[in-house]
Amino acid sequence: MKNLKNKVLIITGAGSGIGRALALHLAQEGARLALNDWNKETLQATVDLIGQEKVRVYSQVFDVSDRPTWELFAKKVNDHFGQIDGIFNNAGITTFPETIPETDPIDFSRLIEINLWGVIHGSQVAIPYLLKQKESLLVNVSSLLGLMGYAGQGAYVTSKFAVRGFTETLRQELVGTGALVTAVHPGPVKTNLTRNIKYHDQDLLNRLSLFFDDAATTTPEEAAEIIIKGIKKGKHRVLLSPRTKMLDRLTRLLPNSYHRFLPRNFRPGHLIKKALAKRAAEKKGVPLEEGVRTK
Ligand SMILES: NC(=O)c1ccc[n+]([C@@H]2O[C@H](COP(=O)([O-])OP(=O)(O)OC[C@H]3O[C@@H](n4cnc5c(N)ncnc54)[C@H](O)[C@@H]3O)[C@@H](O)[C@H]2O)c1
Repeated sequence: MKNLKNKVLIITGAGSGIGRALALHLAQEGARLALNDWNKETLQATVDLIGQEKVRVYSQVFDVSDRPTWELFAKKVNDHFGQIDGIFNNAGITTFPETIPETDPIDFSRLIEINLWGVIHGSQVAIPYLLKQKESLLVNVSSLLGLMGYAGQGAYVTSKFAVRGFTETLRQELVGTGALVTAVHPGPVKTNLTRNIKYHDQDLLNRLSLFFDDAATTTPEEAAEIIIKGIKKGKHRVLLSPRTKMLDRLTRLLPNSYHRFLPRNFRPGHLIKKALAKRAAEKKGVPLEEGVRTK
């Protein structure tokens, strides 16, 4: 889709990070936007920022894992604008680093409901509207961690591999319909992803966020620009940074041992080990494990 002017585009998770940057960028291109987030204040802040672009915006606060609300939302967007030309299934969460055996099944399941089912609901609900258009867009945000395993992020990796498989399959099924189906794989991007984790130890979470910021070399604005550029070129797969491209090649070249060759500041556990070591130094006598429990 080369010209985005007047296109009606849904963006989930538009209250922060990549979603907000996409909304602002697409508004500058003259697209009409239907925005979602489950955070009322941050979603309104995005709407206010877009107000300056004088494009039409519709917004609704809801949880993307809620299917009945998705159905109503798509109908309302269609009633409001008269069409839906595209959807960016971007909303997502991550968890505080923990191993798969440590992860509470309730937390695991909640992450899958949001990161995977949110994308499935959004795609299934939007497709009937998209197929009414001569050309349309279906963009699902996976991750670099949808291309490679990563110790300490089992639930997140599971969800993002699934988003990738779902999207690549959908791409095959929608060939010839005029719908461009694209999977986006960001590497670390400087957003609120780690700050938005629900975790009992705020201090440790703040430190983790700082380490994450350190590793993240891409800004949300750069991410939005690369995604939109990719879409305009008709790409089915958008890898967001040179590091993501390099690691994508590495995983295919060395499928059994790629984890041994990761860049130093991207090794699993690097961030959390540092955070835990600092915490242990401060609180002598407190077992390290105490800091990694989510409950
Ligand atoms: N930041 C990164 O390094 C990175 C890397 C790879 C993939 N991603 C993916 O990019 C997407 C955007 O994340 P971000 O980095 O901009 O993070 P972010 O936390 O800054 O933004 C995510 C937004 O999604 C919203 N959200 C979360 N769960 C929701 C739900 N159930 N319903 C509605 N809204 C919900 C949040 O409120 C937030 O506004 C996510 O899917 C994330 O997994 C991010």
